[in-house]
Amino acid sequence: MFDKVEEYKAMIKSAEAKVADDLEQFRMKFISKKSVVTELFNDFRNVPNDQKKAFGQALNELKTLAQDKFKSLADSLDHSSNESTSKGIDLTLPDVPNENGSVHPLTTTRNKIIEIFERMGFNVASGPEIEEDFYNFTALNFPENHPAREMQDTFFIEKNPDKVLRTHTSNVQIRMMEGGQPPFRSIMPGRVYRNEAISARAHCFFHQVEGLYVDKNVGFKDLKQTLYHFAKEMFGENTKIRLRPSYFPFTEPSAEIDISCFICQGKGCNVCKYTKWVEIAGSGMVDPNVLANCGIDPEEYTGFAFGMGIERIAMLKYQINDLRLFSENDVRFLRQFQGTF
Ligand code: PHE
Repeated sequence: MFDKVEEYKAMIKSAEAKVADDLEQFRMKFISKKSVVTELFNDFRNVPNDQKKAFGQALNELKTLAQDKFKSLADSLDHSSNESTSKGIDLTLPDVPNENGSVHPLTTTRNKIIEIFERMGFNVASGPEIEEDFYNFTALNFPENHPAREMQDTFFIEKNPDKVLRTHTSNVQIRMMEGGQPPFRSIMPGRVYRNEAISARAHCFFHQVEGLYVDKNVGFKDLKQTLYHFAKEMFGENTKIRLRPSYFPFTEPSAEIDISCFICQGKGCNVCKYTKWVEIAGSGMVDPNVLANCGIDPEEYTGFAFGMGIERIAMLKYQINDLRLFSENDVRFLRQFQGTF
């Protein structure tokens, strides 16, 4: 065994590296996990006890020798390749321009939405993305095994079926109401997840802003006026809104909010698919069951809630036709938003 150590030492000392491949060969043979040095270390336990100390020392020397040699081979290789390709720095070359970054269009859109609602007296709340079934569904009046749960394709946490990736930001409603007494006037921006095939129109994660207003005497007129004001601020003074009856387990009555197509001003175009209207949000009066689930007396308090997709608003505002662009980090796409805030 000692012979082998000596033999390897000699090989290491005389090793040369003319090209990168030689260096790699050296690394494989003397440094890597499968190297001859490692092999010797593995043989250590077969060495008779009285020789263990000397052999250990010899092995450590071998290891250090291999590492030092590797470093010096790598250095000299670096040096020689530099010399062959360039002779120092060319100071006449133009500088690489220092480019400005840009704010992501979803961030810009989210900030704009927050700003509009803050001016109306809403504050911003947030909650967990990995959520208990109770907050994502049960407390929001989705009875167990009720088909309404199928409305949102859910990602379950395998090891704990009571936990899900939240399918909407409505979980924050519950957490807020559960923790206090009205009035509540908040918006809740955040990321949500759905088990959908990824396409130009659907993604397995996206972003929502949910709004909640609970107090005495909050009525449907307040919901309508709030969203009308939002639509005008976001899409322009001439924007009109239209409410269509809809269904959500946690609101009653429920309505889908459309805005008049601000691209064609009601003439009909691709964006509104010639219907003159585009959908921007789901909404409704908070179901009395939901208030009661959170310990709020539905006889005394009423409220409205709404939820909108930030991607959807951004797609309308910037006329983006593929949802995937938001998460691909393609700078050719992102650069177009330089200067927007
Ligand atoms: N949570 C609903 C969704 O994700 C949106 C919504 C929120 C609808 C609040 C009504 C009231 O589809």
